[in-house]
Formats: sequence, structure tokens, C-alpha cells
Amino acid sequence: MIFSRLSPLLRMPLVSGLTRDTLLKMDPEIAHGATIAALRLGLAPEQEGADPPELRTTLCGLELRNPVGMAAGFDKTAEVPDALLRLGFGMVEIGTVTPRPQVGNPKPRLFRPAAADGVINRMGFNNEGAEAVLRRLAARAQFGGIVGVNLGANKDSADRTADYVRLIELFAPVASYFTVNISSPNTPGLRNLQQSAALDDLLARVIDARERVRKNAGDSPLLLKIAPDLTLQELDDVVHIARSRRVDGMIVANTTLSRPATLREQAKAKEQGGLSGRPLLRLSTRMVAETYVRTEGAFPLIGVGGIDSGGAALMKIRAGATLIQLYSSLVYKGLGLVEDIKADLLSTLRRTGRESLSEIVGADAATITAEPWPE
Ligand SMILES: Cc1cc2nc3c(=O)[nH]c(=O)nc-3n(C[C@H](O)[C@H](O)[C@H](O)COP(=O)(O)O)c2cc1C
Repeated sequence: MIFSRLSPLLRMPLVSGLTRDTLLKMDPEIAHGATIAALRLGLAPEQEGADPPELRTTLCGLELRNPVGMAAGFDKTAEVPDALLRLGFGMVEIGTVTPRPQVGNPKPRLFRPAAADGVINRMGFNNEGAEAVLRRLAARAQFGGIVGVNLGANKDSADRTADYVRLIELFAPVASYFTVNISSPNTPGLRNLQQSAALDDLLARVIDARERVRKNAGDSPLLLKIAPDLTLQELDDVVHIARSRRVDGMIVANTTLSRPATLREQAKAKEQGGLSGRPLLRLSTRMVAETYVRTEGAFPLIGVGGIDSGGAALMKIRAGATLIQLYSSLVYKGLGLVEDIKADLLSTLRRTGRESLSEIVGADAATITAEPWPE
């Protein structure tokens, strides 16, 4: 699991501290564009060799070679899923994609409260629309790998639920799984779909769509991605409805509108939008544990929020996540973090004499849910 296919010079741009510092000095959205361009051009590191068998993970019938996934929002329009898989991710979630193209919110809309290793974004589902994304995914379908599609509604849509249904019909042949994203804080009113009656109707219609396309397009598990800002009462309702509508899993969680104490003093913390990265770790881990105890094993969870080390990944797994995803920490630690996390997970397994991470999923959920609520 060492990067070696490319010469050290070519590997430098995305992994060396020097160049990461340069990226961190750039405007955040330009730096992101440069990273995507480098991945597209093959200037990123590549994993050497296969992942060890201990890291194999099964999620809703999908066989993953390791449990570390790229979270949605990094590759919104499926420009670089294969470069990310070659880098070492066990799966890549592209999107959020909406039926029609969208420019998103005015710039600047991406901020780095760097002292706290945080990110704030109010991108607003900027994406090229379903047609362009579908074309790219169809062109790479032969390469395999687990590539999930994160679905969203257009900001000006008259029937948002119909947008999700349409996207399921379109993407079924190319999606390893679907994520129904109703938790982005940057599309006004979107999070209202998490409320009971709206959620029940939405899930009934998207599950029905998934069943209809299944005959021709095969099985695509359907996951629900929730906000970390739900109250526990709201979480009770969401899990109850998700279970009764038989979703295949949940992703916990999206960015938060809250601003933890660690961030309050910084001017950038006042920017509107969703906060991610290290300041989200404790809240999102708590939400994973709270969700885990409510699911009673009915379906698996993907844990996401603030993972920036093997230790943080283990924390999420012990809270109840079968699989983890990350995004913001790559900004601060570089793409080599993926290999570091996998190496840490493996050494923990070997040190503790375990054969698979599934043995510790949810081991700390009861303890975590008994702790005081994270500030
Ligand atoms: C710039 C940015 C854009 C994002 N866009 C999306 C998105 O389009 N859809 C989505 O479901 N989540 C999106 N997310 C949320 C991430 O997928 C993830 O849930 C969140 O950032 C917490 O993980 P992290 O702390 O590892 O970044 C975005 C996050 C960031 C930082």
C-alpha cells in the first residue's frame, strides 16, 4: 500500500507538505478545481498492491475491498471516480447530482476555518445536471468498482420528490448504490424532507421507483443521508420511517449548521453554510451512535464527519458505522491520508487479534449515547 507508480516528482503535487501548503494558500474553490484537474490528468498517487483481506467490508450486499469511502461533494459530476478508486478508496460517492444543471450559490461559497481544521460550504448543489453525469458514468462503467450516486433536487423544482424518482430511473444502470440526500443545508427547504409526513411520502416513492427499475437495471441499495442537526425526537421518527419503508442503510451525517465552541471565535465561523471537518467529529459520531441504537441492526450505517486519522475512523466504527467516508480532512492532510487510515485500521485489527472490523461495529454505541451531549 505504498504510492509508487508515478515518479516522486509527479506524486509531489498532491502529497507533499510543501504543495499542500500552496493549495491551502489558494482560494479554496480554485484549490479544489486544481486537485480535480490533477486527478483527471493522472498526477495523483496510486495505491500499490491489493488491500489486505482483513479490510474487506460488505455493505448491503456490496463487496468493498476496504471500508474507506470518498464522501459526496468532492466529485460532484463524476469527473474522477476511477482516479479516486486507484488512489485507494474502497468506494466513491459522486454528486450531489440534480436533474437539471445548477450554478449553485454566488462565490465565495467555500471557506476554511483553518485553525480548527474545519470547512464551511454553501455551494448549493452546483453541478452539470443528470445528463452530463450519466454520460460520464456510462463511459466508465466497464471499470467496475463501487461508485454510488448521491441524488438531490433542483432548487426551483416544483416537485422535489419527483426529482429523486427521475434520478433513480436514470442512474439505475450505472449506480452501485443511491444516496437520497435530504440533508444539505444549502438548498432552502430541502431539510424539511426529513420531517415525518414528507419523509414517509418521499421514501415510499423512491423505494417504489427503485423496485420498478430493479427488473432491468439490477439491485442498487438505497441509502438515506441525514443531517447531524436533527433532534433526538426527529431522529426517532426518521429511523422509524426508514425502517418501515425498508431503506437499505443510512449515511450519518451531512454538514452541520451549528458552530461548536472550538470554532466560535473565528471570523470565518460566521460564514453561512454547513460546517465539516474536525469540528464536526464529536457531533457526527454521537449521531452515528444515536442512530445505531435506534436501528437495532435493521440496516447498516455509513459514518462520516471529521474523520482525519485512523483513530477517528475507529471511533466512528465503534459508534456504529460499518463503513466510513471522508472529505474535509483531505484538504488539510492530503490524499495520502486514505492509505494512512487503512494502515492504522489494519494494525489495530492485527494488534487486537481480530479478523475483521465487523467485530467492533457499534461496540461503543451504548457508552457514547450515555455521555453528555457534545458542545
Ligand atoms: C465543499 C463540500 C461540498 C459538499 N457537497 C456535498 C454534496 O453535494 N452532497 C452531500 O451529500 N454532501 C456534501 N458534502 C458533505 C460531505 O459529504 C460530508 O457529509 C461532510 O463534509 C462531513 O464529512 P467531512 O467532515 O469528512 O468532510 C459536502 C462537503 C463539503 C466540504
